[in-house]
Amino acid sequence: MDVGFHRGDAVMSVQVAPSLLSADFGRLEGEIAMVEAAGADLLHLDVMDAHFVPNLTFGPLIVEAVTRLTTLPRDTHLMITDPDRYLDPFVEAGVSTFTFHLEAFGEEEREARADSILERLATAGVGRGLALNPETPVEWVYPWLDRLETVLIMTVHPGFGGQKLIAESLARVPLLREEIDRQGVTVTIGVDGGVTTGNAAEVVAAGADILVAGSAVFGADDPAAAITAIRGA
Ligand code: DX5
Ligand code: ZN
Repeated sequence: MDVGFHRGDAVMSVQVAPSLLSADFGRLEGEIAMVEAAGADLLHLDVMDAHFVPNLTFGPLIVEAVTRLTTLPRDTHLMITDPDRYLDPFVEAGVSTFTFHLEAFGEEEREARADSILERLATAGVGRGLALNPETPVEWVYPWLDRLETVLIMTVHPGFGGQKLIAESLARVPLLREEIDRQGVTVTIGVDGGVTTGNAAEVVAAGADILVAGSAVFGADDPAAAITAIRGA
């Protein structure tokens, strides 16, 4: 049975985006095939540069490999200080959505750099996403909502998987939902960090469309059951 819910005229289902951060990269092909078979809707790819966050993961080379291994959308989360500088290689590597952090920029340059990235993504036909750290006011994204496909609300401090969801950070989701409806735009809300089978219902109730889950999927004894449980929330 479809667990879709009604928003406006559209019936939308909650989408589950396993984060490969918690996957076994020694057997990436098998891990991707496994979450695909288990009904994952998207793959969440966490790119970290050891500057914006205190951890280092991977770049376009791995994204390109993932692109060859799956037809699922590659929802790419750029936790890097200069997303504009690396945009082209990631687009060439096959990202489906390019989600970058507004906190990556100083206040005086933020608007111009975000504007320019969103314009380049639109030209390239790549999904546009803005991400917000747990303490950043959600109002930061409001001026851009009409030019976005998605907003990623962080509910942990970015950098590592397996942390606990920060409830105060989740409280921004209903506010964003309200503003999206007020502006009459079509933007999905992703929630990233600490999502588990135990709190997924609460995250969906807050207004999330996309639940990112790393350790809750790849750390589970039965990852397929975890995906089903998260989606069924
Ligand atoms: C954290 C990353 C998340 C991470 C989530 O910096 O952006 O996508 O993989 O992992 P869990 O679901 O384990 O909190
Ligand atoms: Zn992420």
